[in-house]
Amino acid sequence: MSLQDKDRIFTNVYGYQPWNLKAAQARGDWDNTKALLERGQDAIIQEVKDSGLRGRGGAGFPTGMKWSFMPKESKDGRPSFLVINADESEPGSCKDREIIRHDPHKLLEGALVAGFAMRARAAYIYIRGEYIREAETLFAARDEAYAAGLLGKNACGSGYDFDVFVHRGAGAYICGEETAMIESLEGKKGQPRLKPPFPAGAGLYGCPTTVNNVESIAVAPTILRRGAGWFSSFGNENNRGTKLFQISGHVNKPCVVEEAMSISFEELIEKHCGGIRGGWDNLLAVIPGGSSVPLVPGEQIRHVAMDFDGLKAVGSGLGTAAVIVMDKSTDIVRAISRLSYFYKHESCGQCTPCREGTGWMWRVMERLRTGDADVAEIDMLQEVTKQVEGHTICALGDAAAWPIQGLIRHFRPEIERRITERAGDVREAAE
Ligand code: NAI
Ligand code: SF4
Repeated sequence: MSLQDKDRIFTNVYGYQPWNLKAAQARGDWDNTKALLERGQDAIIQEVKDSGLRGRGGAGFPTGMKWSFMPKESKDGRPSFLVINADESEPGSCKDREIIRHDPHKLLEGALVAGFAMRARAAYIYIRGEYIREAETLFAARDEAYAAGLLGKNACGSGYDFDVFVHRGAGAYICGEETAMIESLEGKKGQPRLKPPFPAGAGLYGCPTTVNNVESIAVAPTILRRGAGWFSSFGNENNRGTKLFQISGHVNKPCVVEEAMSISFEELIEKHCGGIRGGWDNLLAVIPGGSSVPLVPGEQIRHVAMDFDGLKAVGSGLGTAAVIVMDKSTDIVRAISRLSYFYKHESCGQCTPCREGTGWMWRVMERLRTGDADVAEIDMLQEVTKQVEGHTICALGDAAAWPIQGLIRHFRPEIERRITERAGDVREAAE
């Protein structure tokens, strides 16, 4: 089932109306938030659990369960914190940007509701450094909320004190990894920590912390108002609710759109993007979840359900639902090589397989791109991706390995063709 306008949570995603408090309240935000809080912490967490909401930052961890890991009692007087991940840097992802630009009060109200549910003292919103205008909007929206008594002391008249801090990043992709983000907030170099301990046990300043994506937090007040049953009526088992999809690349009308989870790829593209550029026969491949998931060949994705399980079944993942569409004009080896360069550039350098492996993989990818390689190097590259995958501190190592694995799995003949043709050119020149 695809979504109707009345079912949309983000009714201002295109910015047709102002983002400010008055307009947000007219859209239903901050409507008797005190009554939501009066339901109590356990009831809020249960509702979010029942809704089936899974983290919208890429990994899809059940949100209500994550909140329930936070301690009910403070140990040694230590506070708990909520950290909101707005360091949206995954190539292809641009949904959190639209929420902050046009619906910042949904995020701020969500921060209060979620923070209250997990007994947090404050929320830190860590926003990507390049999102300059968005940060300005967020600061201004936060000031409005404080001035109206919605945040700060006795937030919304609830008797609960809750602060929201906005922290600007400095342009490092790795600071979107939750423990690197915590390090960065603490004023240190943004490098991931080993997990466990997970942030719920030892997070910001060593205190219990939950890190959630912007979209996961922004949908929480609507889930509470409309009910878990309403939210979970969309999507398939294990993949519930609505979701912001970001479709870029070779479609007729790239867009960010809220849709029901599990919508088919074909319906998503036909309904919202005006179809594939040049028609379905012209579709080469799709990276369906941001650059960290493997590509899917065009002929395999048309009828796939756009959710965690549907995309896993074709060897990929939903990730952030950043759908990158590539038609037959794409140089697919060059595209994946460029992604390899990105991961090499963004590696924090802390662990050897990632620091050395990302550079090595990129250099081989470049040789495959130009055809200046030996066919045997394809298997060697595949083998190195397996040595990187699963052997690093954070998921960046996996993210660097998977796109290459997807390329080799589905486009090996194209890589071999380049090598053979290049060898022929070299022979010809020598004769
Ligand atoms: P993860 O699977 O390690 O963790 C997901 C979340 O669940 C984390 O908050 C973690 O603390 C929590 N968690 C997992 N197991 C737990 C346990 N046993 N106890 C308590 N908490 C637990 O994934 P990670 O590394 O946080 O995220 C990777 C994903 O991020 C990738 O799938 C990728 O798609 C996405 N990503 C998104 C970006 C963006 O711009 N939004 C950028 C880069 C990657
Ligand atoms: Fe740093 Fe890469 Fe290791 Fe992650 S996998 S900690 S980015 S070196």
